[in-house]
Amino acid sequence: MSAAAEEKFGLNDADLAIRPTVYAPDCLKGQVAIVSGGAGGIGRATAWLFARLGAHVVVAGRSEDKIAELVRAIGAQGLACNGHAVDIREPEAVGAFFDRVWNEYGGAGILVNSAGGQFPQPAIDFSVKGWNAVINTNLNGTWHMMQAAARKWRDTGQPGSIVNIVVVTTHGLYGVAHTIAARAGVIGLSRSVAVEWAPLDIRINCIAPGAIETEGWKTYTPEARSAYPRSNPMMRVGNAWDIAEACVYLGGPSGRFITGELLTVDGGGQLWGETWTTGKPDYFKTPANIQGR
Ligand code: ADE
Repeated sequence: MSAAAEEKFGLNDADLAIRPTVYAPDCLKGQVAIVSGGAGGIGRATAWLFARLGAHVVVAGRSEDKIAELVRAIGAQGLACNGHAVDIREPEAVGAFFDRVWNEYGGAGILVNSAGGQFPQPAIDFSVKGWNAVINTNLNGTWHMMQAAARKWRDTGQPGSIVNIVVVTTHGLYGVAHTIAARAGVIGLSRSVAVEWAPLDIRINCIAPGAIETEGWKTYTPEARSAYPRSNPMMRVGNAWDIAEACVYLGGPSGRFITGELLTVDGGGQLWGETWTTGKPDYFKTPANIQGR
């Protein structure tokens, strides 16, 4: 297939600039919102939506070029967006990033942690390096961002709100056990500090997306992709805007009485359906394996 005819997955900047939203324009006016992983599918949609609702968005990500491209696209619509490269695995770099946000933009009231990554592999084959890489980015990196934000809010006496993007850890997602472990850690951590940081007027919530179509889907085989709409009882996939709107709900003023919560946006996939990122093992398909009858 030629590059021009390449299939499109998820929402691109042209879609994100005009997609209708249930939220009132300017409902985040005056807010500064940090979005980590802003260059990727969910982070990108979240950055767009927050900017369209009047927030000044500060995108944090690993790739300077990708951030610059997003900042240009959002800025071209007359919306406020800046971005800085930061490796969330490095606590000093994260600290310096937050210093910069406070020095240059006067602080930020909302942090959406969308940065992360994983690779499908049967757990029995994980290398130490692969395991550590996923835990380091998805658990440790998210924690460094959470702690650095909370320290700024504590030290400046400002309230704050964190939304952590995780995955569904309870049922239905297989072949990425390292990320399940890391994200389950983030969910537990979020519940714990939701209580510890309540006296600081800091809220922490998580969103667990299910089958969300993004650009990353082009790396999956057509067979794997075709199974995704059947991974939940609604028999369809979601998109990054579904998650972005959930981020506004929990992260913004509408979430003022919500903390320590996990909002699952997966079309019911946590109740019915399954996603085998590494292919469904024959064991689960073969009637001969049904024992005891
Ligand atoms: N996105 C994925 N990995 C990241 C990292 N280490 N730092 C920032 N953004 C990321």
